[in-house]
Formats: sequence, structure tokens, C-alpha cells
Amino acid sequence: MLSYSQRTYCKLSYNKKDHYYREAKRDGFRARSAYKLQQIQKKFYILRRGNTVIDFGAAPGAWTQVASKIVGNKGQIIAVDKNPIRSFVNENIVILLMDIRSPKLIEFVEDELSGKVDVILSDLAGNTSGNWHLDVERQVHLATIAFESASKLLLPGGNFVSKVFRGPPMKELESILRKNFTKVKLWRPPATRKSSAEEYVICMNYQPVVEDIE
Ligand SMILES: C[S@@+](CC[C@H](N)C(=O)[O-])C[C@H]1O[C@@H](n2cnc3c(N)ncnc32)[C@H](O)[C@@H]1O
Repeated sequence: MLSYSQRTYCKLSYNKKDHYYREAKRDGFRARSAYKLQQIQKKFYILRRGNTVIDFGAAPGAWTQVASKIVGNKGQIIAVDKNPIRSFVNENIVILLMDIRSPKLIEFVEDELSGKVDVILSDLAGNTSGNWHLDVERQVHLATIAFESASKLLLPGGNFVSKVFRGPPMKELESILRKNFTKVKLWRPPATRKSSAEEYVICMNYQPVVEDIE
């Protein structure tokens, strides 16, 4: 039997979920996650008009919709997912059906682009197991792969945003990110479901660490 405060909490979360779900339907977004990227953008201003952007884990495409509108016709979005993404009407979006662990990823993305990119977004997520330590490890692993690609594709001065779970494995990734970007923040957009452990690491102004040559 739920206590009164638990019931109130459930009712609040339900209404919240309903609110963003209804908003997404009304605004023509493919998922309520659109509002998370809008909130990140409002707070950190990571995307600009004319930017070239890679969106990792893009299906069903709500972040791509938001990013495409911000960058406009002179910008470009490459939406990557291992699952199919329904095509978009916007002409500035290229869809790449691919696992981000594929060794061909960088080559494929470079074929689509004339140069490097301004922003890399990663909302990559796997299935959760219910084992907290394992789930944190898996989520941070996905974020690490996204950063490894970012380090090959991002222009100096570029921005990187990735979904993460906070926990001991995140510490190591965070310290690598802090060496490569001048500003790094962990932030939970208000549109995140109350029941979710996810947060986003927002990394700004990429200044790649130059490795010492032996
Ligand atoms: C939370 S959803 C992304 C939602 C998306 N940002 C949106 O707004 O519509 C996470 C996505 O990550 C993708 N994904 C997970 N692991 C992946 C991998 N190894 N390679 C490519 N995509 C992956 C899933 O297929 C799923 O579509």
C-alpha cells in the first residue's frame, strides 16, 4: 500500500510525463526528449546557426528535429543510430544507420562532410538491467565511445553533450573531458523523468590535449 506522500509523488511524476508527452504531440516532435535538448540549449547555448552537428543515438529523431531548426538551412545534421530513423522533411539532415562502435563510423561520417564538425550530441542509451553498477558502467562506456569519436571529428572550439549516469566510472571520463574542454558541467534538464537517473555532461570549447611524442 502506498503512503500518501508516495501517491502524491507518483501523481506528480505522472502529470509531468503527461505534460511533456502532450507538448511533444502538440509541437510535432517525435519524442518528449526534444524538450531536454531545448532546455540544454537555453541554458548553455551549445548550438548556433550554420553549425554542422552529429547526433549519436538519434532515433526516433526528436533531438535531430530541434538541432535542425536551430542550425537552419546553412547548417547540417548527421543523425546516427543503429535503429532505423524515419526520414525528415528538412533538407539539412543526413541519416546514417550504423552502430557507433563500428570501425567504419569515422570514415562514413567524413565522407558525408567536407570538414570537421562544430557540435557532437549523444543521447545514446542501451537497455537498463536493473543492476545499478552495471547500468552506470554501460552508460559511461557509451559516452566514452561518443567522446572518442568526438575527439576525431570535433573542431577546436566545438561542443560535446552526452547522456551519462553519475557514479564512480563517470569520475574517470569527467577528468578526461576536463582536460579537453575549457568548461564541463553535469546537468539534469527539468524535462528528465523523475524516475530516471540520467544526466547530461555539457562540454564546451574543445581544446584537444596534445599528446607528447616519445
Ligand atoms: C534515448 S534514445 C535517443 C532519443 C533521441 N535523442 C530523440 O530525441 O529522439 C537512445 C538511442 O540510442 C541508440 N543506441 C544505443 N546504442 C547504440 C549504438 N551502439 N549505436 C548506435 N545507436 C545506439 C538506440 O537505438 C536509441 O535509438
